[in-house]
Parts: sequence; C-alpha cells; structure tokens
Amino acid sequence: MKDFLAIADYSADELMSLLELADKLKKEHQSGGNQPLLAGKALAMVFQKPSLRTRVSFEMGMQHLGGHALYIGPSEIGLGQRESIADVARVLAGYVDGIMARVFAHEHVLQLAEWSEVPVINGLSDYNHPCQGLSDAFTLYEHYKGKLEGLKVVYVGDGNNVAVSLMNVCAKLGMHFAIANPEGYDMPAEAVNVGQATAAESGSTIALLTDPKEAVAEADAIYTDTWTSMGQEEEAKKREAVFPPYQVNAELLSLAKPTAVVMHCLPAHRGHEITDEVADGPQSLLFPQAHNRLHAQKAVLARLMGGA
Ligand code: CP
Ligand code: NVA
Repeated sequence: MKDFLAIADYSADELMSLLELADKLKKEHQSGGNQPLLAGKALAMVFQKPSLRTRVSFEMGMQHLGGHALYIGPSEIGLGQRESIADVARVLAGYVDGIMARVFAHEHVLQLAEWSEVPVINGLSDYNHPCQGLSDAFTLYEHYKGKLEGLKVVYVGDGNNVAVSLMNVCAKLGMHFAIANPEGYDMPAEAVNVGQATAAESGSTIALLTDPKEAVAEADAIYTDTWTSMGQEEEAKKREAVFPPYQVNAELLSLAKPTAVVMHCLPAHRGHEITDEVADGPQSLLFPQAHNRLHAQKAVLARLMGGA
C-alpha cells in the first residue's frame, strides 16, 4: 500500500500490524528513543485547515524517527487554485519522501495520491479522518489490553468525517459500532454501505440510530465530536439548535457499561457536545487519545516511508 487515505483501503491484518507497530514505537520512545528509521527523509505537511494535534504529532513523529517535517499552511500552496493538484503533487514528490495533507474536498487528497510518486497520508478531509480512526483503535487496543473484538463503540453526534473513520476501523477490527445522530445529519450513504459490507466480513454490527440513550446501552466506549466541523461554520447556529439532545454528559454516560470510556478527537466544545464533568472525569480517555496520535502516525510513517 503506497498511501494512507482511508481505513477502508487496509485489511484487518494490516491495521492490526500498524497497531502492534505503534505499540512497539511508543514503548521504544518512552524507554530512550526510536531508531532513526527515517533518517534523511522529509515529510511535507500541507494544511488547508487549522490543526493542533495533526500538525504537532506528525512533526514530532518525523523528528523522533530521525527525519524532518515541513509545514505548509493554508495561505501558501493554494492547492488547486494557484496551481493544479497534479502539478503540486509532482513538484513536491521531487523534494520530499512523503506528503501529509489536510484538505476540504476528499477528492483533492485522492488526486494528490494519484499524481505523487511518494506516499500520501490523509490528515483529514471533509469525508474521513483515517489517522484519527487508526489512533483511536490504538487507544482502545491499549485500554482493553489488545482485545478489540466484540467491544461496542458508540458515536453520538454528527455523522461526520471522524464518525466515518471510526465506523470503518470498528468494522474492520470486529468491534460493534452504533451511531446516534439527529435526522438529516447521517454519515454519507456510500460510507455506510462500505462499513456494513466490512462489518459483515468481520462478524461485527453497525446500528444507525437517532436516540442516544438507546445507542449507548452496553457501550464500552462513547465517542463524540464537534457539532460543526471546519468548513461548516455558517451552519453553526442551526446546528446548535438541533444537537443539544446529543450532548455526552453524566446522565448519558450512566446508561453505558460502568466500565465504559469516553472519547473525543478534540478540539472539544465544552458545554456543547461534551460536559467538563465527563471530559475531565475518571472515564475520560481524551488526553491519552490525543497523545496516541503521535504513536499511531509514527507507525504509518515508518511503514510507508521507512518500510518498517
Ligand atoms: N483531532 C485532530 O485532528 O485535531 P487537530 O484538528 O488539532 O489536528
Ligand atoms: N469533525 C471535525 C474534526 C476535527 C479534528 C472537523 O472536521 O472539523
């Protein structure tokens, strides 16, 4: 596999092997440092949207592996505007050994991959967020001691890019997935079709619901994300009127298994999709989850750019 564009492109075995590599790299890093698997290599990080976690974790990940990362912000390349995506991809591939891109239109990251001779990693598009999905599976893998099969993961909120990647990683790795979203805020039908076909192969289930209370029954993990994603800012008011019943709060959490964990990709809008009480409570994995972006993405970098 040259690129990392979607969880759906990878087999369950490949995903598990990335989780095992992430685990190894994390332990190695914490006990003195990683081998310089990417010595002399460079990653271009192309951002059309803001970022804290993706930008810093990729940059530090490259540094830990002995390589270099180059940040290219939204005002610089003018992807598809100042210059065609095909030209950007072919030029960058002559300078660097890998490209990480955060884009609006998913088609743009696909085009970059099509035209680039070096690996392309999707750092979030309007359609999906595979680095987040892989990293979240790694957080669950650590928390549940490597036993992912049969867990029930429940996403409450907007059927967005993060929901799509989470559904796919659950379906691949045999975790049951349920989503509760308001009517009209479903995941794209095409993504659900892929997820359902994958779940049928792994023996897991996907439940598409509108009632958060019904969804979280027996949950091992409750996950939420912003009600208004980057690029949807003009819908924020309308969404704020629709989504309050989908807040992850203590009452909702009390309906899941007592051992359930709470997850959020961050940035969080506290008091909206999640309360402080839950975000900072004993069941929250929010910060280990954010920190694990570093380790999961290092596995992707080491595999695609270093052959690990
Ligand atoms: N979760 C996530 O991708 O965060 P950033 O937008 O800060 O990169
Ligand atoms: N769904 C959010 C995720 C941010 C990491 C967005 O796209 O803005």
